[in-house]
Amino acid sequence: GDIVLCVQKIKEQADKYGHSEKSELAFLTAHSMMHLFGYDHMTPEESAVMEAKQNEVPERLGITRQEVTYMTDNELVAKAKEAPENSYSPYSHFAVGAALLSTDGQVFTGCNIENSSFGATNCAERTAIFKAVSEGVKDFKAIAIVCSGDQPAYPCGICRQVMSEFFNPDTRIIVEEGGGLKTYTMSEILPDSFSL
Ligand code: THU
Repeated sequence: GDIVLCVQKIKEQADKYGHSEKSELAFLTAHSMMHLFGYDHMTPEESAVMEAKQNEVPERLGITRQEVTYMTDNELVAKAKEAPENSYSPYSHFAVGAALLSTDGQVFTGCNIENSSFGATNCAERTAIFKAVSEGVKDFKAIAIVCSGDQPAYPCGICRQVMSEFFNPDTRIIVEEGGGLKTYTMSEILPDSFSL
């Protein structure tokens, strides 16, 4: 037989069970293999046998169903605050930091990197996003952004467009505002976004 796995379902279930998409993929593959070997879960008895077997297979292959513990918004903001340390901003003297949380629980930080041509400057958010994407990570839950000024670190238009390339409509953008944290969704900060 064939095994057909639905990527959307993998994402949904990884989110539902609170573990990485890789773990869910391994788990579903083991589950499907059990079906190919003739196991099923139509009755509670069959289900018990199959479940025991399908847990045994990934375990023997060293694939654990590791739980993903996500950073809290406050922890993510604290990470973003470490990032401007490496900001290269000799022209604006405006340091920006970002911390990007991926669906598999990793955090990628970024700072702004300016250039004497000005136009070649890279914002903190894009640095974080490009770091993640260049490491093969393209699914994100949230990004925290902080800056050296008094105003909230709202992302610029170019960064919003880059975010919309990779973020889901409900990926959260966290900024410090009015002494607390304020969260916006992707669809809130860039409605009716352009895409091909
Ligand atoms: N900057 C960011 O890093 N993120 C933004 O969303 C807005 C602007 C940086 C770019 C530049 O180094 C400095 O802030 C002033 O524009």
